Amino acid sequence: MKDVDMRVSIAGVTLKNPVITASGTFGSGMEYSRFFDLKRLGGITAKGVSLVPWEGNPVPRIAEVPSGMLNAIGLQNPGVEVFLERDLPFLRNAGCAVIVNVAGHEPEEYYGVVERLNGVPGIDFLEINISCPNVKAGGITLGTDPKMIEELTRGCKARASQPVIMKLTPNVTDIRVTAKACEAGGADAISLINTLTGMKIDIERQTFALANRTGGLSGPAIRPVAVRMVYEAANAVSLPVIGMGGICTAEDAIEFMLAGATAVAVGMASFADPCAAIDVIDGIYDYCVRHGAEKAADLVGAVR
Ligand SMILES: Cc1cc2nc3c(=O)[nH]c(=O)nc-3n(C[C@H](O)[C@H](O)[C@H](O)COP(=O)(O)O)c2cc1C
Repeated sequence: MKDVDMRVSIAGVTLKNPVITASGTFGSGMEYSRFFDLKRLGGITAKGVSLVPWEGNPVPRIAEVPSGMLNAIGLQNPGVEVFLERDLPFLRNAGCAVIVNVAGHEPEEYYGVVERLNGVPGIDFLEINISCPNVKAGGITLGTDPKMIEELTRGCKARASQPVIMKLTPNVTDIRVTAKACEAGGADAISLINTLTGMKIDIERQTFALANRTGGLSGPAIRPVAVRMVYEAANAVSLPVIGMGGICTAEDAIEFMLAGATAVAVGMASFADPCAAIDVIDGIYDYCVRHGAEKAADLVGAVR
């Protein structure tokens, strides 16, 4: 029996398998390294980093809902300098691809982070999270305006030595429009989906479950929406797509690959089972054997 080639390639970078961890759900991998050898992963996406430290939102900022959770962390992070000093040296030695997720409130903030990361060794990709509210544009989410997306993509590309992945928000009418805007701006890849905006009311306290009132919904509840959006985006652009949203098992991940994702990210599932990503990798391998696929890449976009 031939061995399955699990490698996939994104923007000229080869991942040893298609499974990465989703930003904000895996820290920088340190805590998880007690559970398994990080070099088994295709890649790690670090928590979003901004130019200066962000405190995040007031608590409570997490609430459990059926088949998922709401979070309103507010992109709390210690800023890019601490990331470079404390986290990157660890990530660099993890033995898998390193994706740094970038946050900002306006284009100049994103550009500041991208310029700081430009040329820094040990970073394979930048992932630009365009789900942040734009302060300058009156708080509208940057990632909902195709013109802003195209401009931001172009600006990041001009300043980055690493390939640029644009991370799309699902809180739009037509994901194909925002995916195309990334392509027009010169993105190397797109990733989707980020969380869907939701709300939970605590009926006993008669108030919002989250201090922020609204939060981002993640987990199995959003998976069918995510699969649909990955399918639509993958068929609208010729960029590689990283699919995520509620992936808990290999079967879930394979759905995303068949819909057109070159790679997949495991998010919230790692909270329930720290080894979830490893089971996903092993399960994709077994599926390929069972279906006579010589390469995991053969699954990508097989359902049209
Ligand atoms: C607690 C938490 C923090 C997150 N932080 C970030 C972040 O910093 N940057 C980002 O682009 N996405 C962030 N996300 C979104 C995830 O990366 C992912 O897109 C989303 O949760 C959907 O995947 P899942 O359902 O598998 O969790 C966060 C999600 C959660 C649950």
